[in-house]
Amino acid sequence: MRTPLIAGNWKMHGSRAGIGRLLTDIRAQIDPNGRAELLVVPPFPYLDLVASQLDGVPVAFGAQDVSAHAEGAYTGEVSAAMLADCGCTHVLVGHSERRTLHGESDESVAAKFMAAQAAGLCPVLCVGETLAERDQDRTEEVVQRQVGRVLKEAGIAAFSRAVVAYEPVWAIGTGRTASPVQAQAVHAVIRAQLQAEDATIGGQVRILYGGSVKPDNAAEILAREDIDGGLIGGASLQADSFMAIYRAANQVC
Ligand code: 13P
Repeated sequence: MRTPLIAGNWKMHGSRAGIGRLLTDIRAQIDPNGRAELLVVPPFPYLDLVASQLDGVPVAFGAQDVSAHAEGAYTGEVSAAMLADCGCTHVLVGHSERRTLHGESDESVAAKFMAAQAAGLCPVLCVGETLAERDQDRTEEVVQRQVGRVLKEAGIAAFSRAVVAYEPVWAIGTGRTASPVQAQAVHAVIRAQLQAEDATIGGQVRILYGGSVKPDNAAEILAREDIDGGLIGGASLQADSFMAIYRAANQVC
């Protein structure tokens, strides 16, 4: 059985005081018997604060982006080794906001994925189609192309140390969520693509769903066979809603 993972992507939100309160409230609601794992993904400047607040607490943390380069004259970039040095265990790569607002290509996402693994981080590879692509019936083709580029560059073995997140672009921050049936269908496509390369690795990789997951829709989404957790944006900014989703994962996964 795959262990569910509930991840909070805080995007460009928060302050020292706000994140301090959020972590205090998250810590208070951890279920020592819960099966689900927790991950929080703050903006870069707060990684140290998060590291100190989560010392000894069973909540992992990671970053929202990483440079494909190991070191050098890349002003504004942050390397995977620096993130690992700050205690990160995970990093998002290819979030749709990076792909669409910052021009990240499948190729650069694959390079970031490999840079993350080279530093010992677990990349969370984000994939997903736009509304136009879904309307043109191109969802499968798009996610397979996005996953396929990483497969081609990094190989299937790399997916034994990675997480995939399916986030339909049209469902992010819009209040529109893929129906559990729609999400499960795409998760099954991704898993089949990975299983075609290696049945064991494809069967074990965790595939998270992201896109307007809230406490009131989490249980029915997370109950689906190939949905192994959630990548939560807006609802992860409040401990009560984030931890309600975590409790749903503990109940249904
Ligand atoms: P929302 O949950 O706000 O739709 O964001 C999803 C997301 O982009 C997480 O990475």
